[in-house]
This record gives sequence, structure tokens and C-alpha cells, in this order.
Amino acid sequence: MFFLVYVVCRMSTCEPRDWDIPVSYTAQNTFNPIRNVVETMHIEENPQLEVIRLTVGDPTVFGNLPPSEECVRALCDAIKSGKNNGYKPAYGCKEARNAVAKYSSTPEYIVDAEDVVLASGCSGAIEIALSALVDRGYNILIPRPGFSLYKCICGSRGIEARSYKLFPENGWEADLDGMASLIDERTKLIVVVNPSNPCGSVYKREHLEEILNIAEKYRVPVLCDEVYAHVTFGKEPFHSMGSLTKNVPVLVVGGIAKRFLVPGWRIGWIVIHDRNNSFGFKIRQALRRLCQVIVGPCSVIQAALPTILSDCPTQFFEKTLNLMKKTSNIFYESLSLLSELYPVRSQGAMYMLIGIKVDRLHNVKDDVDFTQKLMAEQSVLFCQQRVFNAPTFFALSSHVPWKSRESLARGSRSFVVIIERTL
Ligand SMILES: Cc1ncc(COP(=O)(O)O)c(C=O)c1O
Repeated sequence: MFFLVYVVCRMSTCEPRDWDIPVSYTAQNTFNPIRNVVETMHIEENPQLEVIRLTVGDPTVFGNLPPSEECVRALCDAIKSGKNNGYKPAYGCKEARNAVAKYSSTPEYIVDAEDVVLASGCSGAIEIALSALVDRGYNILIPRPGFSLYKCICGSRGIEARSYKLFPENGWEADLDGMASLIDERTKLIVVVNPSNPCGSVYKREHLEEILNIAEKYRVPVLCDEVYAHVTFGKEPFHSMGSLTKNVPVLVVGGIAKRFLVPGWRIGWIVIHDRNNSFGFKIRQALRRLCQVIVGPCSVIQAALPTILSDCPTQFFEKTLNLMKKTSNIFYESLSLLSELYPVRSQGAMYMLIGIKVDRLHNVKDDVDFTQKLMAEQSVLFCQQRVFNAPTFFALSSHVPWKSRESLARGSRSFVVIIERTL
């Protein structure tokens, strides 16, 4: 009997086998090119020169832009109080949602705390919003050039990301006819990013309304990414799509990462704008249910959020914006002197895109080759076009330290050197 059990066991489940652990479909199809550049790309620099990294959207990396004392104190107080060590409601505690509602309200529209869902960073908010509205086999419209996370999430979920064009010669406004022509019965969402990463554009009110008109005509909701809300230094003020919409259901996603200079604190939000109850209770409920997967953002940051959003002084914001304005102007002015480059003036959002006329350069194969040469010779690193789906454009960060004028000058001079060498 014992022998029989032994034999059956060997022949079936008890037989030791080799490990065979396949990677999931989701993981195989998840690729975020921007994280790949920041975390894994290693192009050899010139060992004689200190590296200038113009690739990053993290304003803390250079150490020149610390958060405000008020924000730091709010966070310390939230920890020291001992009252914020437990779980909070998955979609955010009432006080923090109230604070976001107040912060997001405009004279045109007062936001209610019940229309706010908190998430782990704006990335978390985007992920929840897409999960609530789009299934495998459907499509969404995204801007090109654009922030890579949208494509990354679509790839991992089997959602088709259809790109609508932005025109550099027109302040990176969207190709409205092109956008409309991409819409079909499987289109679930139009994504707008304003102010834009990576374009540095800030849309006029009229342009946002034109996009809303298309959304209304085809009955497609809008997701407006406003993580750079108020990070503007050009002539165009920031307008929130949420306060402009009348009939189109809009989800505005935002957070404190950029304007408050604390991307690592990981809190973001979705504000639901639904004047005619088109999303209805079911979408609201879906958003809240999806928050239960990771049980909401960090409780300590939630507790500090009301003070962060209300007490951060105006001078703090002005200082950051001045730095970005000066930096992007330096780059714009010096790079526009080179006929081989086509910088597009930035209006906000800590980035600027620079076009390259590869046909005018003999020893440069393409923009990737140009990036590699720039790093190898001048130790200057910036983002290549493939990260933003923008052929022949490069992105520069405009929050590099103003205090190191020299490195800035070298950053822009290096383009001259390398271009001269490739003429
Ligand atoms: C356009 C855009 N949306 C969302 C995010 C993500 O923000 P968070 O750091 O709050 O997740 C970023 C970050 O760079 C961004 O550029």
C-alpha cells in the first residue's frame, strides 16, 4: 500500500520538477521609457568634464530647490502628533479631500470634497482613472510629443494609445482635425496635458475650449493632466480644464510633486468634474473601489496636505518660477543662434523641446546619435525623442541650478561645440 502511494505520488504532483516561472503578460508589456532613461541608460561621459544632467523631471536632484519650510514643518507635525500612523479611508481622508477641493476651486466652479479621490502621486491618479474608464481592446487619444506614462499603462493593459499631433510652430497646440479623425466607437478618453511635459506649453483658454467642443461632439470624456498646474512663467496664465467644462465630463489629475517640489512625497488626486451627471454614481464608485487595491496614499502626507496646500508662501513659488524662466531663456536664446537647432520657447512645466535639423549635420546619423555624441564629448545628457514619441526633438529640464551659471553656460555652449564639429 505504502509503495503504491509512493509511486502515484512520484508520478503526479510530488515529482520534483525544474522551476518554470513565466513572466506575466502585464509585466512583459510594461515599459516606461522615461524611467528607463533615468534609471538604466548608461552612455559614457567625457571623464574630463562633470556631467550635466538635463534629463530629469525631478526638481530635487540638483539640491537647488528645497521644499518650503512650511511644507516640511507640516509633515513633521503630522508625524509627531502620533495621530496619523493608521490606515485612512482608501480614497483619502475628508480633511485632505476638502483641502484639494478648496485648492482646485475657481471663481467659475467650486469643487466639492466628494468629487475628490486621493492617490499615490499623480501617476497613481492616472492609473486609477484609466482603470475606471478603459478596458483592453479599447483606445484612448494621447498627445505627441507626450508624457510616456500613458503609453506605458496602455501597453500593459492591452489598450490602444492613439497619438494626436501637437504643432511646435503653434505653441504646441493640438491638431484638432487630426484628433477628431482618430475617434471611433471604441474611443474611451481624450488625454490632454496642460501645462505640458515635455513641450513646456501652456494652453490658451480658447484652445482648451476647442478640445472640449470635440469631446462634446463625439461624447468622449476628457482626462486633463494638470500636475504642472500654476507652473507657468510665460504670458499665458494657467486655466484648468475642470473650471472651463460645461457639458463634458472631465477628470482632472494633479498633485504636489512639481509645484511644491516634493515628488517623493507621493500624493496626487483626481477631481471629478461632471456638471450633468454623465459619469454618474457608477464611475465615482469605480474610482473609489479602485483605490482599495493599495489602500490610498501615505496617511502622514494626507494629514499634512491641508497645511501644504494653504500655507506655502507666494514667494516660494515665485523663486522657483524665476529660476525656470531664466534657465529656459538662456537655453532658448543661445540655442536659437544655431541654424541647425529649432528650440521652441517654453512657457512653463520645467521643460523645453529642441528640434534638430539632422540633414544639416554630416556626421550625425540621427537624434539618438547626436545625444550620444553630446554626452561622450561634452558630458551633457538630455532626453532623446523616443522617450516622448517626438522624432527629431530633444527635451531639456529648466530647473537646473542657476547658482552654477557655469554649468548652464557649458550646457548650451556644448551644443555649439558639437554642432561645429559635425558641420
Ligand atoms: C505630465 C505628468 N503627469 C504625471 C506625472 C506624475 O507625477 P507624480 O510624480 O505625482 O506621480 C508627471 C511626472 O513627471 C508628469 O510629467
